[in-house]
Amino acid sequence: MVKTRLPPFSDRLLDWWEEHGRKDLPWQHPRTPYRVWISEVMLQQTQVATVIPYFERWTQTFPNIEALAKAPLDDVLSLWSGLGYYARARNLHKTAVLCVEQHGGELPAGAGALSTLPGIGLSTANAIVSQSTDHPAAVLDGNVRRTLARHAAINGWTGQSAVQKRLWDEAESRLPKKRGADYTQAIMDLGATVCTRSNPTCGPCPVSADCQALLLDKVDKLPSKKPATKVSDKTVFMLILRDGQGRVLLERRPPAGIWGGLWCLPESGSIDSLESSLGFTLGHSTALPAVDHRLSHIRMTINPILATVANARQVKCSGQRDWIGHSQLQDLGLPKPVAVLLSSLNNGEFE
Ligand code: ADE
Repeated sequence: MVKTRLPPFSDRLLDWWEEHGRKDLPWQHPRTPYRVWISEVMLQQTQVATVIPYFERWTQTFPNIEALAKAPLDDVLSLWSGLGYYARARNLHKTAVLCVEQHGGELPAGAGALSTLPGIGLSTANAIVSQSTDHPAAVLDGNVRRTLARHAAINGWTGQSAVQKRLWDEAESRLPKKRGADYTQAIMDLGATVCTRSNPTCGPCPVSADCQALLLDKVDKLPSKKPATKVSDKTVFMLILRDGQGRVLLERRPPAGIWGGLWCLPESGSIDSLESSLGFTLGHSTALPAVDHRLSHIRMTINPILATVANARQVKCSGQRDWIGHSQLQDLGLPKPVAVLLSSLNNGEFE
């Protein structure tokens, strides 16, 4: 039998993308470096459908780097509220300020310079370069890692450095000579819609003919599972303290760590330590039903305590702790469970 040579991986993928790929994503029209950067960072841990409305609001509010750099961090965090992993929003702001100070209000050109900026790793830098200049550059987000681990039958967890090195080699060896923007979108689309984590659809896959995992019947075994991470349990008390004017006491969290820089209800492991940090003894208070909240490595149980204080001055305040009126709340970046608790409060659910 005469063996026919397969067309290159990139040609097959691009032909497939022409027919099945995503071409109407808001950051594709126009594909400027700024818009691609914002979308890539939003998409780092979040699905396309969730990102789209956030991206639209963001680009209306901050149409360029200068507008983003000028905005107070609280406005930035507030627009991000609900997307999670807030370090991404803080890094976007930090990078915008750096670009204004050092690069004339533009992102620097080239993946090398881009990947020195806060929140931009090599894959994101290459995604920005390829989509905004059309110059081919290898990307390796979660979907692409999975697709290549299967296509080249690479064993081992994709977070391991030896596995990462092989994946970069495989990603680079498959790049086309031109059409960098379409190729980046195509390989991401293939991973998101065909070479999915569970139940991949190998039938319509344009690169199944030389997929090593498929040939070895290992599609469902690759990529190898991540070794289990330890999840810890944490129980906290959160105080919903209102003053005579209906304002609520909030504290800004330190910049690093969980919910860094966001405004939170006063929180502690015990009611005693809450009281001593506020310099105030709770009188009559109501324990509300516990709320479960899952962070990447913490299972949190929040016990909300509702109380009032007649005179706001009884509580120690500082720059990082303040009484916040209802109308100010939507301008602040709030962790999700705090936003949910406060909106239940404002809807009168605890009356
Ligand atoms: N994930 C990261 N970048 C993406 C893009 N441009 N389209 C879809 N998913 C993505």
